[in-house]
Amino acid sequence: MGMERAEDAGIYKIADNLAIVQTVDFFTPIVDDPYAYGQISGANSLSDVYAKGGRPLTAMNMVCFPIKTMDISILRSILAGGLDKLHEAGVILIGGHSVDDQELKYGMSVTGVIDPRKVIANNTGHDGDMLILTKPLGTGIISTAIKAGAAPASAVKQAIESMSALNKKACEVMLEVGVNACTDITGFGLIGHAAEFVLDTSLGMTVYAESLPYFKAAPKLAEAGYIPGGLTRNREYRQNIVKFSPETPDFIRQLVFDPQTSGGLFMAVAPEKADLMVKRLHKAGVKAAAIVGELTSRNKGKITVK
Ligand code: CO
Ligand code: CO
Repeated sequence: MGMERAEDAGIYKIADNLAIVQTVDFFTPIVDDPYAYGQISGANSLSDVYAKGGRPLTAMNMVCFPIKTMDISILRSILAGGLDKLHEAGVILIGGHSVDDQELKYGMSVTGVIDPRKVIANNTGHDGDMLILTKPLGTGIISTAIKAGAAPASAVKQAIESMSALNKKACEVMLEVGVNACTDITGFGLIGHAAEFVLDTSLGMTVYAESLPYFKAAPKLAEAGYIPGGLTRNREYRQNIVKFSPETPDFIRQLVFDPQTSGGLFMAVAPEKADLMVKRLHKAGVKAAAIVGELTSRNKGKITVK
């Protein structure tokens, strides 16, 4: 599973009860603190394995670093941040590769295991399922403000805390309670990833604008013009499947397309399990988890935000 449609990870069956899950991710710095950048990139690289209900086992570093112009201690901090996340996840670093490059980039390839009969796909939701999101939206807006030196310290702190949080606990709760579909919200934004739940299925989606979790500073920063280029591209790509109700505030119309780094899990849960799932997620420390919408048999292939 993997290349035929937009799945989170590649999955290869080795035996009836064993498959490997493989994923790779890397990006340029989105915060100024090198250690935090390493943590965020590590958490982000592991996320696609958790989104499929898998267990990550090993990772390899990928580094592009301007060795002639940047202090090597910066690279050490980045790698320490990534390694600390691997330790937290119980994942072993088994290698890596680095090249000299003018622009710094860091990430990992990750390998995990999963029972092939228990893979959680992103297009297997049911009519009536409730949709649960586990992290606040708005990291793209905040990192755009960081680059301009305009993000308040409290917003930077909250965004770093959220982006560096592993989706491990959310995955564990998800497996305990049971779900019908899952993905993680990353570069294509909420709508871009949610689209995979409804495209080429018999389902449509309703998103509850008022229930979406987001960082408190994000509306002001968006209003001040800190809009990432990726947000505009995401909107151009997917606006044809989205309908907003007339009352939807401008900020929400932007937020749903904001590209996320190391975003939360997005799950489709049977309605009778939805409250229990949110309760268990909160108890496990996944504080932002909220019911943010539902799947319906109306509106096939489309997303309504209201
Ligand atoms: Co993903
Ligand atoms: Co990915």
